[in-house]
Amino acid sequence: MAVRSILIYPDPILKQISAPIEVVDESVVAVIQDLVDTMMASGHSVGVAAPQIGILRRIVVVDVSKSKLGKDNNHGLLEMVNPEIVEKSGNKMMREGCMSVPDYTGNVTRAEHIVVEFADRKGQSRVIEASGFEAVAIQHEMDHLDGLLFLDRVSSLKTDLYRRKTK
Ligand code: NI
Repeated sequence: MAVRSILIYPDPILKQISAPIEVVDESVVAVIQDLVDTMMASGHSVGVAAPQIGILRRIVVVDVSKSKLGKDNNHGLLEMVNPEIVEKSGNKMMREGCMSVPDYTGNVTRAEHIVVEFADRKGQSRVIEASGFEAVAIQHEMDHLDGLLFLDRVSSLKTDLYRRKTK
């Protein structure tokens, strides 16, 4: 319904903890749709979380299907309300970026396989197993719900953070 502007670090909203959704009503569906529209409009984003558009509620969207890292292993567009990781295993380090941290990328280690439970836009409970880049993207977006950025996950700001090349 609308492409929203993204809050940029160090906006204090990005450090807040988001509240769980009690009922998936039309206000929640509207947030989901704005997140999808905002992700698609960026042309390169593989996920957005509600706090990044200034809404402190536990909603994220992820879609790695158009990324070369995720195109062979994904669930398509995921719209996740109250996502919870119920199992995780393995470790994978990847270079991450974030629409809220436009000038940097960083190396972050996360679980390589996850089982995640969430409600979809109809309020129906779903459980999926994700791995590789999709699992990393889901964990990155879920961190936003707890006020965490990838900057909080890099082991060293000196050696694991990279300035993006300016165009
Ligand atoms: Ni992000």
